[in-house]
Amino acid sequence: MKVKYLGHSCFLIEDLLIDPFISGNPKATVRPEEIKCKIICVTHDHSDHLGDAFEIARANDAVIVAIHEVAVLAQSKGLKAEGMNIGGSIEIGDWKIKMVEAKHSSDKGHPAGFILFNKKFNKTIYHAGDTGLFGDMKLIGDEGIDIALLPIGDRYTMGVDDAVKAVNLIRPKIAVPMHYGTFPVLTGTPDDFKEKSPVRTEIFEIGEEKDL
Ligand code: NI
Ligand code: MN
Repeated sequence: MKVKYLGHSCFLIEDLLIDPFISGNPKATVRPEEIKCKIICVTHDHSDHLGDAFEIARANDAVIVAIHEVAVLAQSKGLKAEGMNIGGSIEIGDWKIKMVEAKHSSDKGHPAGFILFNKKFNKTIYHAGDTGLFGDMKLIGDEGIDIALLPIGDRYTMGVDDAVKAVNLIRPKIAVPMHYGTFPVLTGTPDDFKEKSPVRTEIFEIGEEKDL
């Protein structure tokens, strides 16, 4: 399964894009017009996550998957959107998408994470969105996570030490750090996380694609 890191919390996994913060990201290595996808998951409406989602959705005729209130906003702009809420699942294309809790804030609706199951590759990815550590990550781990995408930057999300505790609750086969280094205040480093992580940890360069 092809996993490409586009910086901050943005990943392109096969035909599914998550949290495309591209044009506003000083470290981005692609332009929004270059991205091809069918589904765009948005964890919450902060600008470093909603980012270019609407423009990319329009250009690709892609469907936005987001919390109800953000989906309604997308629909009001003439876009295809599937609204959902914490605990719910939907199926689109090769994917079963479940929305789960995140401990954070948002302007509209509620911030979320996603459990993304790809039927073709039989793999489950957890994208935590922006969140602090919470004990119910253990329940997310009970779903059998192959790859966990976890924020480590600190200040607005978990820092490295709490992200390591999250790994212990989630028990993924592979952990991937995100939401660090984009701005100077996001001080957690991927090398520190990798050193402390109890599982295989993959650090991506921005723009790098790995077959996981
Ligand atoms: Ni946020
Ligand atoms: Mn953020």
